[in-house]
Amino acid sequence: MSDRSPKRPSTPREPIEPGDRPQIVITGASRGIGAAVAEELARRDFEVVGLSRTGDVPTGRGIAVDITDEAALASAIADIASVGPIIGLVNNAGLHTTGPTAELTVPAYEAVMRVNATAVMVASREIYPHLKANGRGIIINLGSFFDKIGAAQQLAYCASKAAIGAMTRVLAVEWARDNISVLNVAPGYIKTDLTPMWSDEEALSWLKKRVPMRRGGEPAEVARLIGALFSEDIPFLTGETIYLDGGHALNH
Ligand SMILES: NC(=O)c1ccc[n+]([C@@H]2O[C@H](COP(=O)([O-])OP(=O)(O)OC[C@H]3O[C@@H](n4cnc5c(N)ncnc54)[C@H](OP(=O)(O)O)[C@@H]3O)[C@@H](O)[C@H]2O)c1
Repeated sequence: MSDRSPKRPSTPREPIEPGDRPQIVITGASRGIGAAVAEELARRDFEVVGLSRTGDVPTGRGIAVDITDEAALASAIADIASVGPIIGLVNNAGLHTTGPTAELTVPAYEAVMRVNATAVMVASREIYPHLKANGRGIIINLGSFFDKIGAAQQLAYCASKAAIGAMTRVLAVEWARDNISVLNVAPGYIKTDLTPMWSDEEALSWLKKRVPMRRGGEPAEVARLIGALFSEDIPFLTGETIYLDGGHALNH
């Protein structure tokens, strides 16, 4: 652990006492976007705690937990709160599946919904009293531009990401009085393990035609946006979905 004190601009929110080491919890920080977010937030002098099944983190503290296990997730958050104040949550962990809807089973559908949507509700609910007690907080959910397009054979994933947009709006309204803002960062195609297209020449040439920026996004680009939202801390910005897709979903 470093002894750096957090350097954030002064905001209308209640300050955390110096030396309190405000923590930001990131689900799915072991790889992909979550790992990039952990590194970016650490670079900005926040203390990060990553939750994933492996418990791996590129920096900060890692806790091994399956976020679909409600009791284990609640206990991990209580453990983090016992170490120091929590000022933020990044609901990042996600699961992507494809297949014809005519063959989609309820267990397969629910497996995606449990990681991508239900665990977001549970993590947010469990962290809420701690943010409230600290008089401030930011929750950032990882949605997707698939929340508003009809991506064939991706029904469960699209439904889960549409649920994220809805939860973001509801929580923003419900918790605004507690000085907690809730945002949905919704990426397009980002170079991680989640989408197996990065070594497929045909898929890459399709992507180049579809995305006005002619490329996939980097995890570091998503991380920079999330880092900026935490550093700048703009409480009046809440409930919104911010798309980060190189213009993909807008392209006719
Ligand atoms: N990549 C994209 O193109 C893209 C586009 C739009 C939105 N997103 C969203 O961005 C988020 C991150 O995606 P990514 O591309 O970085 O995915 P990724 O590389 O596949 O990483 C997924 C992360 O989620 C964790 N995770 C999965 N199931 C879990 C569980 N049951 N309990 C705890 N942790 C779990 C994994 O850790 P462990 O394996 O260690 O558990 C891993 O850290 C997701 O919500 C995804 O839907 C991604």
